[in-house]
Amino acid sequence: MKPDVKAVLEAGPRSAVHRTRVGVVGSGYVGLTTGVCLAWLGHDVVCADIDVDRVETLRAGRVPFVEAGLAEMLTVVAGVGRIRFEVGAAAAAEASDIVFIAVPTPQDDDGSADLAYVRAAARQIAPVLKSGAIVVNKSTVPVGSARDVAGVIAREDIVVVSNPEFLREGNAVVDFLSPDRVVVGADDRGAAERVLALYHGIETETLITDPVSSETIKYAANGFLAMKISFVNAVAAMCEAVGADVADVVRGVGLDHRIGSAFLNPGPGWGGSCFPKDSRALVKIAEDHGYDFSMMRGVIEVNDQQRRRMVHKVRSALGRSDSHDLSGVRVGVLGLTFKAGTDDLRESPSVAMIDSLRQLGAEIRAHDPTVSNPLDDVRARVLGGISIAATAIEAAADADVVVIATEWPEYRELDLDAMAAAMVGSAIVDTRNLLDPETVRSHGLSYDGVGRR
Ligand code: UGA
Repeated sequence: MKPDVKAVLEAGPRSAVHRTRVGVVGSGYVGLTTGVCLAWLGHDVVCADIDVDRVETLRAGRVPFVEAGLAEMLTVVAGVGRIRFEVGAAAAAEASDIVFIAVPTPQDDDGSADLAYVRAAARQIAPVLKSGAIVVNKSTVPVGSARDVAGVIAREDIVVVSNPEFLREGNAVVDFLSPDRVVVGADDRGAAERVLALYHGIETETLITDPVSSETIKYAANGFLAMKISFVNAVAAMCEAVGADVADVVRGVGLDHRIGSAFLNPGPGWGGSCFPKDSRALVKIAEDHGYDFSMMRGVIEVNDQQRRRMVHKVRSALGRSDSHDLSGVRVGVLGLTFKAGTDDLRESPSVAMIDSLRQLGAEIRAHDPTVSNPLDDVRARVLGGISIAATAIEAAADADVVVIATEWPEYRELDLDAMAAAMVGSAIVDTRNLLDPETVRSHGLSYDGVGRR
């Protein structure tokens, strides 16, 4: 069992046996979590970013995104001088023994991950790296990237290794400090051991492989997890067809230890910054090397289907299964982020569903605990054209149908009387199976979940 973030904070920072000077290039969600957690473990960390505003925010002790526990930990490690923030990659590299590259690898048009930022970071740090320093690829990078980055750095005295992250947004701190495993891929065993030593004090399985295997582990792990969810979503569709109940089915299946019950919650399809990008990249990497990963293509196709099924559910709930015209229909959407515990809207199933419903002419009013007016530029681009409500009940006001799109715990406690009174229609579509169907129906509302009888 992993501890919760409260227990991590209560236990306090540690002191490192092998105190190391660490640089982290890229202070986004992966880089900042890595930097703060390594400082928490007792190392001396310099985190860099090209975004001057972000560096200022971090210097002021603020974390620019939602990640449980991270701001509190930052306050502690910054307070004892174990972490500082600098503009530009070189600043993180010049005095460090180990330098992590944790910059974005956005998706290219053909599905592959774009290495441009990783290579640019490597070029910037190459001239300033101390002799004997180790460069670590932490970003999820295409198979072969450790060797590619070594080629960019082009220095005999520098080793590049792979050390993939397995951090769930919203649980990143706990996943970093209590991981299921730490994987290091390196051609040089001594370098791999020096990187593993950073994690000293964490009780977990460690695995040293060659770089290509380590990079493949990351993609295979995310691919397998995405497959589990697509599988359960397909089973949920099957349950609806045959009249079975997916909760009972998953329980009965998950009790088999070879299968396990984790990560088998049906929903609106997987989203976020990782699974969509990594599953497409996995197909592309395989293709580039002459293998047609048809199973992974199927996993993606089921996910696309699942998104379409959610839109169909909304149309059915409105009694409009046969119509593609939803003009005049008002939909209240509860939840915009791709899952609870984050403010991340990237590849959110909720946003995809909203786009589809709007294309059919529906009007959307949405609530999310992490989204409020006025929207910043990024959010305005993603959510432009929908109205943002301050509360869930306000989002339900005058709605013909209310859709629960993200599993925020507060939606479990919805005041269903107030909701029924606020709506003009009476349909609830629960894409996260959050509510009890009978309770919803007892308030005079109709209910449809995912794979539930
Ligand atoms: C995922 C992996 O879980 C991490 O191990 C990995 O390190 C990370 O990607 C990454 O590559 O950086 P994350 O994207 O934060 O983490 O989100 P998850 O908690 O894995 O959820 C992904 C999607 O699957 C969400 O849309 C979620 O709602 C959905 N999901 C998850 C389900 O629909 N059902 C489940 O049972 C679990």
